[in-house]
Amino acid sequence: MSGPFRTALTDLTGVRYPIVQTGMGWVAGPRLVSASANAGALGILASATMTVDQLRAAVREVKARTSAPFGVNLRADAGDADERVRVIVEEGVRVASFALAPSKELIARLKDAGVVVIPSIGARRHAEKVAAWGADAVMVQGGEGGGHTGDVATTVLLPQVVDAVDIPVIAAGGFHDGRGLVAALAFGAAGVGMGTRFLLTSDSTVPDAVKAKYLAAGVKDVTVTTQVDGLPHRMLRTAMVDALERSGRAASTLRALRHASAFRKETGASWPQLVRDGLAMKHGKELTWSQVLLAANTPMLLKASLVEGRTDIGVMASGQVAGLIDDLPSCSELVERIMAEAQTALRALPAPG
Ligand SMILES: Cc1cc2nc3c(=O)[nH]c(=O)nc-3n(C[C@H](O)[C@H](O)[C@H](O)COP(=O)(O)O)c2cc1C
Repeated sequence: MSGPFRTALTDLTGVRYPIVQTGMGWVAGPRLVSASANAGALGILASATMTVDQLRAAVREVKARTSAPFGVNLRADAGDADERVRVIVEEGVRVASFALAPSKELIARLKDAGVVVIPSIGARRHAEKVAAWGADAVMVQGGEGGGHTGDVATTVLLPQVVDAVDIPVIAAGGFHDGRGLVAALAFGAAGVGMGTRFLLTSDSTVPDAVKAKYLAAGVKDVTVTTQVDGLPHRMLRTAMVDALERSGRAASTLRALRHASAFRKETGASWPQLVRDGLAMKHGKELTWSQVLLAANTPMLLKASLVEGRTDIGVMASGQVAGLIDDLPSCSELVERIMAEAQTALRALPAPG
């Protein structure tokens, strides 16, 4: 694209607009990703909840539905990250996005194969680290964002990271419209990433009754809890979340064991592989084994709500921005609207000097 909305992100990835539909477990599947890509945004397929074979099938399905570039989000610490990277390279996926910082070797392997590497980070020092290792860009998520999150707001974290690294920075956490895009560009970002906003489109496969709960939520109905997997996780406050916060250690360990077993079946991981993944998670972090075990809670509780519609026994990861969203446009309507709003917001700015 030419004009004010051509950025380092559009140049780097070949997408039309500087908008990213972020990787969301159980949500960012082939249908949403191809709709985002066809709308001119960078759609990112979430792969942590898929087996390697499912990932290859999902990538092929996206390719069958769009010729536009797209990306795959993966966990750098997964025991089978190598196999997933092979799928990305063999299938000619344009972008690899990481939920946790990938190793220097992994970055080099992807870049050698011509894949654009964009890790997601929540702190300046992580951005500095992956930039030094050769990442092409970073996505920085502020505390208002959905899913696992930090406690520094986008308005503080974004300029801090923009000043710290000399690779393009994509801003995420709290964005839903064209004003936000212009504000992010003004901060020095190369584009915006949005999760909750794309979850709430007619192209997302989340059950309608579940989308209705997000639409009904106000800003204060979105909370952060550590009771799902020991890490701060932003989600809609529900009776289930209240129950998780009240339940004792024995109940949560039992639940974690049950979920670890179910997750093993979902992703095709063996028990030894889960233990290896757990060791990788623990490495360098102050995590206890029970916290590592709890990690399997996240995908299973998200699946219950976002796939099966069981919001009574599952959780709904969400950004605070759910409180501002009250419609379900298609991805194409959404992206066109955001770009039109961005033009209007730019024109409404006071003329310089
Ligand atoms: C339902 C849901 C699932 C998510 N799953 C993942 C994931 O699997 N991997 C990841 O890197 N980020 C995940 N995230 C975080 C998003 O990719 C993104 O960074 C975040 O939603 C941005 O904030 P926003 O919701 O305010 O737009 C998830 C977010 C939501 C709302």
